[in-house]
Amino acid sequence: MSQAPVTLESQALSKTYYSTDPPTEVLRGIDLTVRTGEFLVIMGASGSGKSTLLYSVSGMDRPTSGNVVLEGRELTSLSDAEMSTVRLTRMGFVFQQPHFLSNLDVRDNILLPALKAAPRGGRHAAVTRVDALMARFGIAHLKDHGITQVSGGQLQRASICRALAGEPAVLFADEPTGALNSTMSTEVMDALTDVHRDGTTIVMVTHDPGCAARGDRVIYLRDGVLVDSAELGPWQEDEAQRREDELLVWLRKLGF
Ligand SMILES: Nc1ncnc2c1ncn2[C@@H]1O[C@H](COP(=O)(O)OP(=O)(O)O)[C@@H](O)[C@H]1O
Ligand SMILES: [Mg+2]
Repeated sequence: MSQAPVTLESQALSKTYYSTDPPTEVLRGIDLTVRTGEFLVIMGASGSGKSTLLYSVSGMDRPTSGNVVLEGRELTSLSDAEMSTVRLTRMGFVFQQPHFLSNLDVRDNILLPALKAAPRGGRHAAVTRVDALMARFGIAHLKDHGITQVSGGQLQRASICRALAGEPAVLFADEPTGALNSTMSTEVMDALTDVHRDGTTIVMVTHDPGCAARGDRVIYLRDGVLVDSAELGPWQEDEAQRREDELLVWLRKLGF
C-alpha cells in the first residue's frame, strides 16, 4: 500500500462552528493521507467529528482552515460551482439513510447523477454502466421497482451503484450499515469489499468493528484529533474474526 500514489490528502484541517457560544471546535488539525485503492476506515465515539471530517474533505462542508487535495488538486480554494462539479464527477457518496426520489424507479435514481455528470452524448455509456453495476450487486431485477418496494439492504446496494456510476476517485461512506440488520449489513459490506478489490479508493466511517475489519487501515478520532491508526492489511474472509478481535483490543485501549 505504501507505494501507491496519494488520491486524497488533508493538511492541518480544522472545522469550528461559530454558531454556538463558545464556538465548537470539531476538527483540530487533521493530517490525512489516503492512497489510491486504499480502503480507509474512520472510527471514534459519537460526536468525535467523523461525519464532519468526511464532509470537510468532500467539500460538502467548508473547513475553517487547512488544505484538502484530491488527485493533486487543491479543493478548499474552489468556488461552490467548481466544488459541485468535483463532487459530481470525482466523488461518490453512501449515507446511513439512502436518499432517493420517490417518483423515480430504482434504476433512474441510480442513473440521475451519472447523467448529470456525463458529457454530451454520454447517456448510452452511463446507462450501460449502471445496468452492469446493478447486475453485479444483485439488484438488476429491481430496476423498475419503486424505492419503497425494495429492502433496506437492496436500497443501500442501489446507493453503492449510484455512487459508482460516475467512476469516482473516492467513494465516501458514512455509517453505510448503521440502519441495517446484520444480514443486510453483511450484504452491503460484501459489496464494498468487492468495490475495493476492483481498485476503488474508499473512505468509510463506521462504529461497527466487524465492518471496520474490512478496511486496510483504521484511524481513530477523539474530540476532533486523529489519535491512532491500525494497519490491517488486505482483507481476507477467513481472517475476519481475528481481524475483528484485534481491532476490539485496539479500540478498548483507546477507550471506545
Ligand atoms: N452545524 C453544527 N453546529 C454546531 N455544532 C455542530 C454542527 N454539526 C456538528 N456539530 C458538532 O460537532 C461534533 C461532531 O459531530 P459529527 O461530526 O457529526 O460527529 P460523529 O459523526 O463522530 O458522531 C458534535 O459535537 C456535534 O454536536
Ligand atoms: Mg456521524
